[in-house]
Formats: sequence, structure tokens, C-alpha cells
Amino acid sequence: MQRKQKRDNWGSRLGVIMAVAGSAIGLGNFIRFPAKVASNGGGAFMIPYLVSLFLLGIPLMWIEWTLGRYGGGFGHGTAPGIFHSVWQKNRFIKYFGVIGIFGPLIIFIYYTYIESWTLAYSFFALTGKYTNLMNQEAMQSFLKGFQGLEKNQFFNSISSAYMFFLITFILNISIVYYGIKRGIERVCKIAMPLLFICGIILLLRVLTLGVPDPNRPNWNVYNGFGFLWNPDFTALKSPRVWLEAAGQIFFTLSVGIGVILTYASYLSKGDDVVLSGLTAASINELAEVILGGSIIIPAAFVFFGPENIQAIARSGVFNLSFVTMPLILNRLPLNQILSFLWFFLLFLAGVTSSISLIQPAVAFLEDEFDIDRKRAVLIFAIVSFILCQPAIFFLKNGVVDELDFWGGTFFLVIFAMVETILFAWILGMENAWDEIHKGADMSVPKVYKFIIKYITPLFLITILLTWLWQEWLPIILMRNVSSTRQIYILVTRAGLLLIFLVLAVLVKLAWKRKKAMMERLR
Ligand code: PFF
Repeated sequence: MQRKQKRDNWGSRLGVIMAVAGSAIGLGNFIRFPAKVASNGGGAFMIPYLVSLFLLGIPLMWIEWTLGRYGGGFGHGTAPGIFHSVWQKNRFIKYFGVIGIFGPLIIFIYYTYIESWTLAYSFFALTGKYTNLMNQEAMQSFLKGFQGLEKNQFFNSISSAYMFFLITFILNISIVYYGIKRGIERVCKIAMPLLFICGIILLLRVLTLGVPDPNRPNWNVYNGFGFLWNPDFTALKSPRVWLEAAGQIFFTLSVGIGVILTYASYLSKGDDVVLSGLTAASINELAEVILGGSIIIPAAFVFFGPENIQAIARSGVFNLSFVTMPLILNRLPLNQILSFLWFFLLFLAGVTSSISLIQPAVAFLEDEFDIDRKRAVLIFAIVSFILCQPAIFFLKNGVVDELDFWGGTFFLVIFAMVETILFAWILGMENAWDEIHKGADMSVPKVYKFIIKYITPLFLITILLTWLWQEWLPIILMRNVSSTRQIYILVTRAGLLLIFLVLAVLVKLAWKRKKAMMERLR
């Protein structure tokens, strides 16, 4: 069928790698990863993490780059169309693809809000609004006041947080408004190097921390790295650690959610995916393990010691990055600049990720309804702006955690399983192998033929079954949710279901429309 408008494409190979790395490197690397490592006792986390990287993360990266480029060849940039192109005989597979638009949208709703905190904190660092606070209680109450969770001497309303949210939201929308090449690619090519510069400066500062407390000589950077890297084999027996490690790999690489599929759909047929995918994944791991792990963890170890790091991380996912880290930096010379660098690094990481979360919904409207990009972005802006409001105003009622669980954890596993099966079993491993190697600049190690066909799906099924066995009932019945919060959680779930259904109906309409157009052309 003749397409009305030409699909956008990437300007250069470096550009697409930077954009994918930009999507992958995000708040997950610098906030979520250290919190997961620390709350799981350091080294105990790293073995399941690395195993998941090689058995899930890297295979899924290749699968998504390949399927995305394949679907793009048929004019589809999102999972419903891409899945349908792979398995044309199956009428239902496109509905599994709805997750590839739903998931990014749900993550976007809360992710952008958290990202806006980092912009606010960068600004507050420069203006010295919190840089004289020296203890945990004060810093914590600064954060709570800012988030609108309590009124205190720092903030008496949520209005300042809301203003930073508006700036961040508009910035995100504007970048995507300019399209793939002129918007996303251009921003990532500038933001990524800048992010690494901020990270390296902070890393060097942490490495030269010495021993701040002479009474505790063991609290030094060297032992801080030991906390991260000394493996603890007993933790391998804990299914929860495995689940969390696998979940982190998905989240950090942005795989299992549809975003990489969409980005890869803008590649041309002969573009390499093997080396590019591996490069993007490697840059992410460098940023996660080297920068994400080596800044906050050793710094917190030096100032607070091993037991306290664990307690802080367990007390809330934002505490290490928004409370402990600024407190540490406040004790150092040039604290305002260092604190700015830390939060600005987070902001750069956040923006390059959140723009990737917008693109699937926009691509869906463009590709399947022939809506032009600018209008598609506008529609997305209006809908997502409304959807962001509950995350902002009901943060304290557990809405963000709920969105993160479904959008950022549960559906990733299901979606990843569907993709792997489509790739290895429906397309067939021989075809898939040919497809992945089209235009490739290196070959995928042979062992991955076996891994992708058997190990990755088995690993995913095991994760899912373990989860069902251990947590299904308590989560569905909200056993761990206080009675006051239950209503919010229930409404959030109903809202999520509604969004999913609306998207599924849109998919149905899109296919009906295309069918009618095809018939008219005949
Ligand atoms: N990978 C991003 C991070 O580590 O913060 C988060 C993310 C972006 C997840 C895009 C999923 C996604 F599709």
C-alpha cells in the first residue's frame, strides 16, 4: 500500500546509538540501581544481575533491534504492527502489542514527574536552597515538603514542584515535536557526552574522599567498592533477588517495553543492528555499573557505613539519591557545584529516557492512523498531561509505586516473553538468524542461537511462575496495602485497565481502517 507520508529516519549511526543509549541510561541507572544494590546487600545482587544481563538483556536488545527494523520495513513502528508483520496469520497477536504502547505511556506518567524533581534540585543547588542542610531529618523534610507530602519551613505547597514539572513536561514534548532526527537524535548527541562529563567529575571526587571519620578507618572508598563487588553466593538461593535483578536489567536497558522496537523501526533495511545494539547496551552498562554504582555507593559507604546504606536504601527508593547524596556533597568544598552536577546528571539522564517513552504512542498515531507528527505529539501531550495529574497529587497514596509495578515491572516480563517467542519460534531461529545478520558489522556468537531459543524464554517463564507463586495473591488482594490506600490503588488499577482497553480498541479500529483502505484500492 502506498504510504501517505514518509517515515522519519535516523541521521547517522552514531545518532541512533546515542538515542538508544540515551533511552537506556536514565534515572534507573543512578537512582534505581544503587538503591537495588544497596537494599539487597551489595555483592549479593551483582551475580544475578550479570547473569540476567547476558541471558535476558543482551538477547532482548538484539531481538528488539531486529524486530523493530523488520517491522519498520512494513511501515510499522510499534508492537501491534510489528508483531502482526511477524505472525500475519494470528489475529490476536497485535493485541499483545498494545503493551508496547501502554507500558511506555504508563512509565512516562511518573517518570517525567520524578525527572522534574532533578531539575528542581539542580536549580536549588545553584541557589543554595538546601546546601546548608546537614542532617538526615532536615534533608528528608526538604524532600517531603517539595513533593507536597507535608507543609514545613521549606515549602508550604506543591506549587514549586508543579512548576518544575510543567517545564520538564513542555521540554519533553518540544523535543519529540521536532521528530526523530531533528529532535531526539540531536538532543541525545549533546546530552550523552555532557552526562558522562558530569559523571566522571563526580566519580573522581568520590575516589578521592579518603577517610572522613578517623574513628572508623574501615569506612573508606576501597571497602565501599568491596560492598558492591564482593559476591555473596548464598543470595543466589533467593528468588526475590533474582526477580529484582532481572527487573533491573529490563528497566535499565529499556527492553521488554516497546521503546527500542520503535527506535529501531526508523533504521534502514541494510543498517547494522548487532554491533549497534551491543554498543548501546555496553554504554548503558558502563553508565550503570561504573558511574551509577561507583558514585553513590562508595560515597554513602564512606559517610554512613555498610549497615546504614542498607537501611537507607530500604527506607525508600529516593532516599539515597535525594537525601543521602546531597547530604554527603554538602559536607565537601564546592558543595553547590557538586550538588548541581549530581542533579543535572540525573536530569540529562532522565530527559533522554523520557523522550523515548513518548515516541511509541506518537509513532502509533502516525503509522496506523496517518496523523502527522506534530498533531500526534499534540494529542499525546494532552492525554499524557491529564494522566500525569494523579501521579503528582496522589504520590503519597502509593499511585506511583502501583504504576511502576504494572508498567515498569510486570508487563515487561510478559512482553519480553512474547517477543522472544515470536522471534525464535514463529519467525524461526534460522530466519531470525538471517534477519539479525542483515547488514551486520559483526556476527552474534553462535551460543546465542541456543540461548535465545531456549534459555531466554525459559528464564522468563521461570520468573513469571515464581512471581505468580510467591506474590500473585497478596498483590491482587492488596494484602500489604494499608486500608486508607486501598481505594487509590483500586482506582489506579481500574484506570490502567481502561487505558489498556482504549488502546486495544484503537488497534482494532486501525486495522479495520487499513482493511477498508486496501479494499478500496483493489
Ligand atoms: N532505561 C531507563 C532508565 O534506566 O531510567 C528507563 C526506561 C526508559 C525504561 C524507557 C523503559 C523505557 F522504555
